[in-house]
Parts: sequence; structure tokens; C-alpha cells
Amino acid sequence: PFTVELPDGTEIAVAADESILDAVARSGIPALNSCREGVCGTCETPVIDGVPDHRDHLLSDEERASNETMMICVSRCIGARLVLDL
Ligand code: FES
Repeated sequence: PFTVELPDGTEIAVAADESILDAVARSGIPALNSCREGVCGTCETPVIDGVPDHRDHLLSDEERASNETMMICVSRCIGARLVLDL
């Protein structure tokens, strides 16, 4: 489990058995999605702070290392907190 924070300060707890996408949607924030498997790129979300645990099949090694963007349908968080531009 970890916490996703939004630019307005909203904090959303992400349980071990749910995706960031689902946790965000549960909180009433609409996030675009399509495949939900890390292959289409629809849910790509800018990362403001924190280190994503990338589990998608789209980003290059350079993009992963940059920590600038992530696919929130499958990717998770290394550590306790991610700040996302949602
Ligand atoms: Fe397709 Fe996330 S919804 S990559």
C-alpha cells in the first residue's frame, strides 16, 4: 500500500490489491483508461514526485529512468508516496 497525492493536496490510499487507476476512480477523479493492461498508453500520467514502479509494456528504459510519466493502470510506487498530475 502507498499514497497518491494530487496537485491540490488530495491524498488517495492505494491498497495492495488495487491499481492506482481504480483507487483514483474510487475517489471520484475521472482518469482516462482503455486497456488497463499497460499496453495502450491511454492512462499515461505525469509524475510530479516519487518513484514509480513501472509495470507497463510501453515506456523505454530512458523514459522509465526519467520518472516523468507512468501508466497508472498497472504501475505502482517504490516507496510510500507518489505525487501525480491528475
Ligand atoms: Fe492502457 Fe493504462 S489503460 S496503458
